[in-house]
Amino acid sequence: MSTEVKSIAVIGAGTMGSGIALVSAMTGIKTYQVDVSDAQLERSKAGHTKIMGRNVEKGRMTAEQAEAAAGLLTYTTSMTDAKDVDWAVEAVFENAELKKGIFKEMQATFRDDIVLASNTSSISITDVATAVGDADAPRVIGMHFFNPVPVMKLVEVIKGLATSEETTARTIALAERMGKVPVPANDRAGFVSNRVLMPMINEAFYAWMEGVAEPADIDSIMKLGCNFPMGPLRLADFIGLDVCHDIMMVLHRELGDPKFFPCPKLRQLVTAGRLGDKSGQGVFEYGKK
Ligand code: 3HC
Repeated sequence: MSTEVKSIAVIGAGTMGSGIALVSAMTGIKTYQVDVSDAQLERSKAGHTKIMGRNVEKGRMTAEQAEAAAGLLTYTTSMTDAKDVDWAVEAVFENAELKKGIFKEMQATFRDDIVLASNTSSISITDVATAVGDADAPRVIGMHFFNPVPVMKLVEVIKGLATSEETTARTIALAERMGKVPVPANDRAGFVSNRVLMPMINEAFYAWMEGVAEPADIDSIMKLGCNFPMGPLRLADFIGLDVCHDIMMVLHRELGDPKFFPCPKLRQLVTAGRLGDKSGQGVFEYGKK
Protein backbone atom coordinates (compact mmCIF):
# COMPACT_ATOMS: atom_id res chain seq x y z
CA MET A 1 0.00 0.00 0.00
CA SER A 2 1.11 3.52 -0.76
CA THR A 3 2.09 5.21 2.52
CA GLU A 4 2.59 8.94 2.01
CA VAL A 5 -0.67 10.85 1.65
CA LYS A 6 -0.07 13.86 -0.58
CA SER A 7 -3.51 14.02 -2.16
CA ILE A 8 -7.05 13.14 -1.14
CA ALA A 9 -10.39 12.83 -2.90
CA VAL A 10 -13.43 13.71 -0.80
CA ILE A 11 -16.56 12.38 -2.46
CA GLY A 12 -19.59 14.45 -1.50
CA ALA A 13 -19.60 18.22 -0.91
CA GLY A 14 -22.36 18.43 1.69
CA THR A 15 -21.71 19.68 5.22
CA MET A 16 -19.43 16.79 6.19
CA GLY A 17 -17.58 16.36 2.88
CA SER A 18 -17.00 20.08 2.67
CA GLY A 19 -15.60 20.18 6.21
CA ILE A 20 -13.34 17.18 5.60
CA ALA A 21 -12.01 18.73 2.37
CA LEU A 22 -11.24 21.99 4.15
CA VAL A 23 -9.40 20.31 7.01
CA SER A 24 -7.45 18.21 4.48
CA ALA A 25 -6.35 21.28 2.50
CA MET A 26 -5.48 23.16 5.70
CA THR A 27 -3.25 20.19 6.59
CA GLY A 28 -1.31 20.85 3.37
CA ILE A 29 -2.78 17.97 1.36
CA LYS A 30 -3.88 18.46 -2.24
CA THR A 31 -7.62 17.91 -2.07
CA TYR A 32 -10.21 17.12 -4.70
CA GLN A 33 -13.76 17.96 -3.64
CA VAL A 34 -15.96 15.79 -5.83
CA ASP A 35 -19.75 16.07 -6.13
CA VAL A 36 -22.32 15.42 -8.86
CA SER A 37 -23.80 18.89 -8.31
CA ASP A 38 -22.09 22.10 -9.46
CA ALA A 39 -24.34 24.08 -7.13
CA GLN A 40 -23.18 21.98 -4.17
CA LEU A 41 -19.54 22.50 -5.15
CA GLU A 42 -20.15 26.25 -5.32
CA ARG A 43 -21.68 26.20 -1.83
CA SER A 44 -18.73 24.20 -0.53
CA LYS A 45 -16.23 26.62 -2.05
CA ALA A 46 -18.08 29.64 -0.64
CA GLY A 47 -18.10 27.97 2.79
CA HIS A 48 -14.35 27.30 2.59
CA THR A 49 -13.66 30.93 1.69
CA LYS A 50 -15.83 32.17 4.55
CA ILE A 51 -14.29 29.91 7.21
CA MET A 52 -10.73 30.65 6.12
CA GLY A 53 -11.52 34.38 6.04
CA ARG A 54 -12.72 34.14 9.63
CA ASN A 55 -9.60 32.18 10.58
CA VAL A 56 -7.42 34.93 9.11
CA GLU A 57 -9.46 37.64 10.91
CA LYS A 58 -9.08 35.79 14.19
CA GLY A 59 -5.33 35.37 13.64
CA ARG A 60 -5.55 31.56 13.51
CA MET A 61 -3.86 31.54 10.12
CA THR A 62 -2.13 34.07 7.90
CA ALA A 63 -3.58 35.28 4.60
CA GLU A 64 -0.72 33.43 2.87
CA GLN A 65 -1.66 30.17 4.63
CA ALA A 66 -5.30 30.62 3.64
CA GLU A 67 -4.27 31.27 0.06
CA ALA A 68 -2.03 28.20 0.08
CA ALA A 69 -4.89 26.02 1.41
CA ALA A 70 -7.30 27.45 -1.18
CA GLY A 71 -4.72 26.65 -3.88
CA LEU A 72 -4.73 22.99 -2.76
CA LEU A 73 -8.48 22.65 -3.33
CA THR A 74 -9.93 21.49 -6.65
CA TYR A 75 -13.72 21.35 -7.06
CA THR A 76 -14.92 18.89 -9.68
CA THR A 77 -17.91 16.85 -10.79
CA SER A 78 -15.59 14.18 -12.23
CA MET A 79 -14.03 11.55 -9.97
CA THR A 80 -11.60 10.82 -12.80
CA ASP A 81 -9.95 14.23 -12.26
CA ALA A 82 -8.77 12.81 -8.93
CA LYS A 83 -7.71 9.41 -10.25
CA ASP A 84 -4.11 9.61 -8.94
CA VAL A 85 -4.95 10.45 -5.31
CA ASP A 86 -3.32 8.70 -2.34
CA TRP A 87 -6.50 8.48 -0.25
CA ALA A 88 -10.27 8.62 -0.76
CA VAL A 89 -13.03 9.49 1.70
CA GLU A 90 -16.67 9.07 0.81
CA ALA A 91 -19.09 11.47 2.54
CA VAL A 92 -22.41 11.13 0.69
CA PHE A 93 -25.93 10.67 2.13
CA GLU A 94 -26.53 7.99 4.75
CA ASN A 95 -27.87 5.46 2.27
CA ALA A 96 -26.22 2.04 1.97
CA GLU A 97 -26.94 1.52 -1.72
CA LEU A 98 -25.68 4.99 -2.63
CA LYS A 99 -22.50 4.45 -0.59
CA LYS A 100 -21.90 1.05 -2.20
CA GLY A 101 -22.31 2.55 -5.66
CA ILE A 102 -19.72 5.22 -4.80
CA PHE A 103 -17.33 2.57 -3.45
CA LYS A 104 -17.58 0.63 -6.72
CA GLU A 105 -16.82 3.81 -8.63
CA MET A 106 -13.89 4.65 -6.32
CA GLN A 107 -12.52 1.12 -6.78
CA ALA A 108 -12.72 1.46 -10.56
CA THR A 109 -11.24 4.98 -10.63
CA PHE A 110 -8.45 5.12 -8.06
CA ARG A 111 -5.19 3.18 -7.67
CA ASP A 112 -5.56 -0.21 -6.04
CA ASP A 113 -3.11 0.59 -3.23
CA ILE A 114 -5.01 3.41 -1.52
CA VAL A 115 -7.31 3.41 1.51
CA LEU A 116 -11.02 3.79 0.72
CA ALA A 117 -12.60 5.43 3.77
CA SER A 118 -16.24 6.14 4.51
CA ASN A 119 -17.55 8.93 6.71
CA THR A 120 -20.53 6.69 7.51
CA SER A 121 -22.54 7.78 10.56
CA SER A 122 -24.24 4.48 11.20
CA ILE A 123 -24.12 2.20 8.15
CA SER A 124 -21.95 -0.87 8.61
CA ILE A 125 -18.43 -0.71 7.14
CA THR A 126 -18.55 -4.46 6.58
CA ASP A 127 -21.66 -3.92 4.47
CA VAL A 128 -20.14 -1.00 2.52
CA ALA A 129 -17.02 -3.13 1.87
CA THR A 130 -19.09 -5.83 0.15
CA ALA A 131 -19.31 -3.42 -2.79
CA VAL A 132 -15.60 -3.84 -3.56
CA GLY A 133 -15.33 -7.60 -2.94
CA ASP A 134 -13.02 -9.67 -0.73
CA ALA A 135 -9.76 -8.64 -2.38
CA ASP A 136 -10.24 -4.94 -1.65
CA ALA A 137 -12.22 -5.11 1.62
CA PRO A 138 -9.00 -4.90 3.73
CA ARG A 139 -8.48 -1.31 2.54
CA VAL A 140 -12.02 -0.16 3.44
CA ILE A 141 -12.48 1.62 6.78
CA GLY A 142 -14.81 4.01 8.60
CA MET A 143 -13.41 7.49 9.21
CA HIS A 144 -16.27 9.23 11.01
CA PHE A 145 -15.78 12.98 11.39
CA PHE A 146 -18.05 15.30 13.42
CA ASN A 147 -19.80 18.53 12.53
CA PRO A 148 -18.39 21.18 12.35
CA VAL A 149 -15.38 19.24 11.09
CA PRO A 150 -12.85 22.08 11.50
CA VAL A 151 -13.81 22.40 15.19
CA MET A 152 -14.61 18.90 16.44
CA LYS A 153 -11.60 16.88 17.55
CA LEU A 154 -12.92 13.36 17.17
CA VAL A 155 -12.51 10.89 14.34
CA GLU A 156 -14.24 7.62 15.18
CA VAL A 157 -12.25 4.89 13.40
CA ILE A 158 -14.36 1.87 12.48
CA LYS A 159 -12.87 -1.42 11.37
CA GLY A 160 -15.02 -3.67 9.22
CA LEU A 161 -14.71 -7.44 9.41
CA ALA A 162 -11.91 -7.51 6.83
CA THR A 163 -10.22 -4.13 7.45
CA SER A 164 -6.47 -4.69 7.76
CA GLU A 165 -4.24 -3.54 10.60
CA GLU A 166 -2.26 -1.53 8.08
CA THR A 167 -5.36 0.34 6.91
CA THR A 168 -6.28 1.06 10.53
CA ALA A 169 -2.79 2.29 11.43
CA ARG A 170 -2.69 4.53 8.38
CA THR A 171 -6.12 5.98 9.15
CA ILE A 172 -5.09 6.78 12.70
CA ALA A 173 -1.90 8.43 11.40
CA LEU A 174 -3.81 10.55 8.87
CA ALA A 175 -6.43 11.63 11.42
CA GLU A 176 -3.64 12.70 13.80
CA ARG A 177 -1.88 14.56 11.00
CA MET A 178 -5.16 16.46 10.46
CA GLY A 179 -5.05 17.49 14.12
CA LYS A 180 -7.81 15.10 15.15
CA VAL A 181 -8.04 12.52 17.93
CA PRO A 182 -8.83 9.10 16.44
CA VAL A 183 -10.72 6.71 18.71
CA PRO A 184 -11.55 3.14 17.65
CA ALA A 185 -15.04 1.66 17.72
CA ASN A 186 -16.35 -1.63 16.42
CA ASP A 187 -18.65 -2.12 13.48
CA ARG A 188 -22.10 -2.11 15.10
CA ALA A 189 -24.91 0.16 13.90
CA GLY A 190 -24.26 3.74 15.00
CA PHE A 191 -20.85 2.72 16.43
CA VAL A 192 -20.50 4.56 19.77
CA SER A 193 -21.24 8.19 18.92
CA ASN A 194 -24.61 7.84 17.24
CA ARG A 195 -25.64 4.79 19.29
CA VAL A 196 -25.57 7.08 22.32
CA LEU A 197 -26.28 10.53 20.85
CA MET A 198 -29.26 9.79 18.59
CA PRO A 199 -31.49 8.01 21.15
CA MET A 200 -30.82 10.98 23.47
CA ILE A 201 -31.95 13.39 20.75
CA ASN A 202 -34.95 11.15 19.97
CA GLU A 203 -35.90 11.20 23.65
CA ALA A 204 -35.83 15.00 23.61
CA PHE A 205 -38.44 14.87 20.82
CA TYR A 206 -40.59 12.58 23.00
CA ALA A 207 -40.24 15.00 25.93
CA TRP A 208 -41.45 17.79 23.63
CA MET A 209 -44.27 15.67 22.13
CA GLU A 210 -45.50 14.61 25.57
CA GLY A 211 -45.51 18.21 26.77
CA VAL A 212 -42.84 17.71 29.41
CA ALA A 213 -41.43 21.12 28.40
CA GLU A 214 -41.24 23.50 25.44
CA PRO A 215 -38.32 22.94 23.02
CA ALA A 216 -36.37 26.00 24.22
CA ASP A 217 -36.75 24.86 27.83
CA ILE A 218 -35.69 21.28 27.04
CA ASP A 219 -32.56 22.73 25.48
CA SER A 220 -31.92 25.17 28.34
CA ILE A 221 -32.22 22.36 30.87
CA MET A 222 -29.68 20.21 29.03
CA LYS A 223 -27.31 23.14 28.39
CA LEU A 224 -27.36 24.61 31.89
CA GLY A 225 -27.76 21.36 33.79
CA CYS A 226 -25.56 19.03 31.77
CA ASN A 227 -23.15 21.52 30.20
CA PHE A 228 -24.07 20.66 26.62
CA PRO A 229 -22.77 23.29 24.17
CA MET A 230 -26.12 23.05 22.36
CA GLY A 231 -29.38 21.59 23.59
CA PRO A 232 -30.43 18.28 21.96
CA LEU A 233 -33.18 19.87 19.82
CA ARG A 234 -30.94 22.69 18.59
CA LEU A 235 -28.29 20.04 17.85
CA ALA A 236 -30.85 17.97 15.91
CA ASP A 237 -31.58 20.99 13.69
CA PHE A 238 -27.84 21.57 13.29
CA ILE A 239 -27.20 17.95 12.27
CA GLY A 240 -30.32 17.84 10.07
CA LEU A 241 -33.59 16.22 11.15
CA ASP A 242 -33.52 13.93 8.10
CA VAL A 243 -30.04 12.73 9.10
CA CYS A 244 -31.20 12.08 12.70
CA HIS A 245 -34.24 10.24 11.37
CA ASP A 246 -32.20 8.10 8.96
CA ILE A 247 -29.70 7.14 11.66
CA MET A 248 -32.51 6.12 14.02
CA MET A 249 -33.97 3.96 11.24
CA VAL A 250 -30.59 2.22 10.80
CA LEU A 251 -30.33 1.63 14.58
CA HIS A 252 -33.89 0.32 14.65
CA ARG A 253 -33.40 -2.01 11.70
CA GLU A 254 -29.98 -3.31 12.68
CA LEU A 255 -30.41 -3.60 16.44
CA GLY A 256 -34.07 -4.65 16.35
CA ASP A 257 -35.13 -2.84 19.52
CA PRO A 258 -38.32 -0.70 19.30
CA LYS A 259 -36.67 1.90 21.54
CA PHE A 260 -34.72 3.05 18.47
CA PHE A 261 -37.80 3.87 16.37
CA PRO A 262 -37.84 7.60 15.50
CA CYS A 263 -40.26 9.69 17.59
CA PRO A 264 -43.47 10.58 15.66
CA LYS A 265 -42.70 14.27 16.22
CA LEU A 266 -39.33 13.91 14.49
CA ARG A 267 -40.94 11.91 11.67
CA GLN A 268 -43.62 14.55 11.18
CA LEU A 269 -41.13 17.41 10.84
CA VAL A 270 -39.09 15.41 8.32
CA THR A 271 -42.25 14.61 6.33
CA ALA A 272 -43.06 18.34 6.24
CA GLY A 273 -39.57 19.11 4.90
CA ARG A 274 -38.62 20.98 8.08
CA LEU A 275 -35.10 19.63 8.21
CA GLY A 276 -33.41 22.15 10.51
CA ASP A 277 -30.77 24.78 9.69
CA LYS A 278 -30.44 23.71 6.07
CA SER A 279 -34.14 24.25 5.24
CA GLY A 280 -34.51 27.33 7.45
CA GLN A 281 -36.98 25.63 9.75
CA GLY A 282 -36.88 22.58 11.99
CA VAL A 283 -37.66 22.46 15.68
CA PHE A 284 -36.72 26.15 15.64
CA GLU A 285 -37.07 28.89 12.99
CA TYR A 286 -33.99 30.19 11.18
CA GLY A 287 -35.61 32.31 8.47
CA LYS A 288 -36.79 30.83 5.18
CA LYS A 289 -34.12 29.50 2.79
N1 3HC B 1 -16.95 25.70 10.68
C1 3HC B 1 -15.80 26.14 11.21
N2 3HC B 1 -15.71 26.72 12.42
C2 3HC B 1 -16.86 26.89 13.09
C3 3HC B 1 -18.10 26.46 12.60
C4 3HC B 1 -18.12 25.86 11.34
N3 3HC B 1 -19.25 25.40 10.78
N4 3HC B 1 -19.05 26.76 13.51
C5 3HC B 1 -18.42 27.35 14.54
N5 3HC B 1 -17.10 27.42 14.29
C6 3HC B 1 -16.08 27.95 15.18
C7 3HC B 1 -16.23 29.44 15.29
O1 3HC B 1 -15.39 30.10 14.36
C8 3HC B 1 -15.81 29.74 16.72
O2 3HC B 1 -14.44 29.97 16.83
P1 3HC B 1 -13.93 31.42 17.28
O3 3HC B 1 -14.83 31.90 18.35
O4 3HC B 1 -12.54 31.19 17.72
O5 3HC B 1 -14.06 32.19 16.03
C9 3HC B 1 -16.05 28.45 17.47
O6 3HC B 1 -16.28 27.42 16.49
C10 3HC B 1 -17.25 28.61 18.36
O7 3HC B 1 -18.33 29.04 17.53
P2 3HC B 1 -19.44 30.07 17.98
O8 3HC B 1 -18.87 31.08 18.93
O9 3HC B 1 -20.12 30.58 16.75
O10 3HC B 1 -20.55 29.21 18.68
P3 3HC B 1 -20.43 28.17 19.86
O11 3HC B 1 -19.45 28.57 20.89
O12 3HC B 1 -21.82 27.90 20.24
O13 3HC B 1 -19.84 26.86 19.15
C11 3HC B 1 -20.22 24.82 18.11
C12 3HC B 1 -20.43 26.32 18.03
C13 3HC B 1 -18.74 24.49 18.00
C14 3HC B 1 -20.97 24.23 16.92
C15 3HC B 1 -20.78 24.31 19.50
O14 3HC B 1 -22.07 24.78 19.69
C16 3HC B 1 -20.79 22.82 19.61
O15 3HC B 1 -19.77 22.20 19.91
N6 3HC B 1 -21.97 22.20 19.39
C17 3HC B 1 -22.12 20.75 19.42
C18 3HC B 1 -21.64 20.18 18.13
C19 3HC B 1 -21.78 18.69 18.10
O16 3HC B 1 -22.24 18.04 19.02
N7 3HC B 1 -21.37 18.12 16.97
C20 3HC B 1 -21.48 16.71 16.74
C21 3HC B 1 -22.72 16.45 15.95
S1 3HC B 1 -22.95 14.73 15.67
C22 3HC B 1 -22.09 14.42 14.27
O17 3HC B 1 -21.52 15.26 13.65
C23 3HC B 1 -22.07 12.99 13.88
C24 3HC B 1 -22.93 12.73 12.68
O18 3HC B 1 -22.72 11.38 12.30
C25 3HC B 1 -24.38 12.99 12.91
